[in-house]
Amino acid sequence: MRGAGPFPLSPRGECAIDASTTPPPTATTACAVELTGITKRFPGVVANHDIHLSVRKGTVHALVGENGAGKSTLMKILYGMQKPDEGTIAVDGEQVAFHSPADAIARGIGMVHQHFMLADQLTVLENIVLGSEKLYGIGAGARRKVLELSERYGLGVRPDVYVEDLGVADRQRVEILKVLYRGATTLILDEPTAVLVPQEVDALFDNLRELKAEGLSVIFISHKLGEVLSVADDITVIRRGTTVGTAVPAETTPRQLAELMVGSELPTPETAESTVTDRPMIEVEELRLLAEGSARALLDDISFTIHEGEVLGLAGVEGNGQTELIDALIGLKHADSGSIRLAGEDITAWATRRRRERGVGYIPEDRHRHGLLLESPLWENRILGHVTEKPNSRGPGGFWLDPKGAQADTRRIVEEYDVRTPGIDVTAASLSGGNQQKLIVGREMSHKPRFLIAAHPTRGVDVGAQAQIWDQIREARREGLAVLLISADLDELIGLSDTLRVIYRGRLVADADPATVTPEELGSAMTGAASGHLEHVEEPEDPKGPKGPADPEDTAAAQAPAPADTTPAPEGARAAENVQEAAGPEDEAR
Ligand SMILES: Nc1ncnc2c1ncn2[C@@H]1O[C@H](COP(=O)(O)OP(=O)(O)OP(=O)(O)O)[C@@H](O)[C@H]1O
Ligand SMILES: [Mg+2]
Repeated sequence: MRGAGPFPLSPRGECAIDASTTPPPTATTACAVELTGITKRFPGVVANHDIHLSVRKGTVHALVGENGAGKSTLMKILYGMQKPDEGTIAVDGEQVAFHSPADAIARGIGMVHQHFMLADQLTVLENIVLGSEKLYGIGAGARRKVLELSERYGLGVRPDVYVEDLGVADRQRVEILKVLYRGATTLILDEPTAVLVPQEVDALFDNLRELKAEGLSVIFISHKLGEVLSVADDITVIRRGTTVGTAVPAETTPRQLAELMVGSELPTPETAESTVTDRPMIEVEELRLLAEGSARALLDDISFTIHEGEVLGLAGVEGNGQTELIDALIGLKHADSGSIRLAGEDITAWATRRRRERGVGYIPEDRHRHGLLLESPLWENRILGHVTEKPNSRGPGGFWLDPKGAQADTRRIVEEYDVRTPGIDVTAASLSGGNQQKLIVGREMSHKPRFLIAAHPTRGVDVGAQAQIWDQIREARREGLAVLLISADLDELIGLSDTLRVIYRGRLVADADPATVTPEELGSAMTGAASGHLEHVEEPEDPKGPKGPADPEDTAAAQAPAPADTTPAPEGARAAENVQEAAGPEDEAR
């Protein structure tokens, strides 16, 4: 690792980072992109201050830092979405000034937004060509180009398939191809692996290696430090808006990287005892939900019980019924048959507000669509979903809104949940992705739920804040909270859950013991390759092999929550290998 301070810039415009790192065989010494002295101020916040970033051609360059450190802002500047107040951008050694993304695209800068910007009802080819018809037309020429790019970078894109029929990993490859089609030679991926299972992350990383081999450069943002260390050639660390150093992946552990990010030592997570009781809090029986206007079942024969003090983890590739199950539990959709009971009371027909008032907490999958009013101040967002409850309102039935009460409590949440913001009157949109998430978690936990639906509770949250949220969930669980945990981060799922189920095509197809199951075993049930009770198979360990046990000291704190009741070390060790991401990227487009 190299320390803080201004980066030595080479007089000939070569990438300064070469001075102390060993370039991989594919890398050249030329700089694809160089950002120098970038400063960007927003009212009350300096988002970027004198940032330096040199990206070598033919490399994957990771950008890491805490929530609100200024990563997305910097990338928006590079992509022409925002103008820096100070500093310069050089592309291929030549200084440029971007006024819009179109200018950036013209200089070969492309940005892949993780949450789907594709039109579902169009084919892959149509989606790629849309808006760039001038490049290769809309007919045979365009098709040829798409196939050629797909072949060259190993993307396996099928041009005539409708996007709505594609899974998330395929959609992401279409997004990447779309950027390449526009001639990008530097790709920005802002938290790209959020919804991928481990096997899909491996495939994405293979694609990135192909891009590198062709001399392209990738800027990669992620909070999963194991993932960063496995894929990056160079790493730049940003803290509180400024570059604090670079790290050499081969010489750095996730823990060291995390400490460089936060500027202090990380706490080691403690092991928690099982708190599962025999008192059912939520009982779901034979729930069935049909697609609108059709007999197709989106959820079929779903039955489970979560007891007080229990976390039930639900694993699954996105789009297998999780959204529908969450909607049915919170009351946004009503089941066609089956029942839901909350602490013995049948709530199947209840409206959302009544469920909320009776103690159902909700951390939604899509924080923009279901968690926040982006253009409203933070304190109004604190009221959202809890209008009739204290401290947001008073009087019988919560009749009178109490803005002062809500404002005071927002200040408390900002403080307790470390939401980095200049105040409670700024809009939710101006918070960084991870800080938006912390606000939502704070709001929901503040109402002392009896049953919490937690969908990707730490998506896009940095390692320090992640550990804090895990602790908060564990503490509430000790006091009897029942949790349905849905997460694309399998380490989180395994580490926090008392019980694990797998959802596949709208059915619960498998269950597993979190104390023994591996992310890979869960991954195969998630793709339909295994079902029933997932028996853990002990693999003979080769201590010299690449998958030998990692030092749990280095990884546990930085990556995985300690498991609910047993053996923390294997989880931590696994975290270093696992490249699953739980990040919130949709906000990065804003
Ligand atoms: N449009 C805006 N208006 C006001 N403040 C903003 C705006 N965009 C970003 N900020 C502020 O700039 C800082 C940096 O935010 P940025 O989104 O770059 O962080 P980040 O490193 O991407 O964090 P995360 O990991 O949470 O995504 C934050 O304090 C944020 O509140
Ligand atoms: Mg961000």
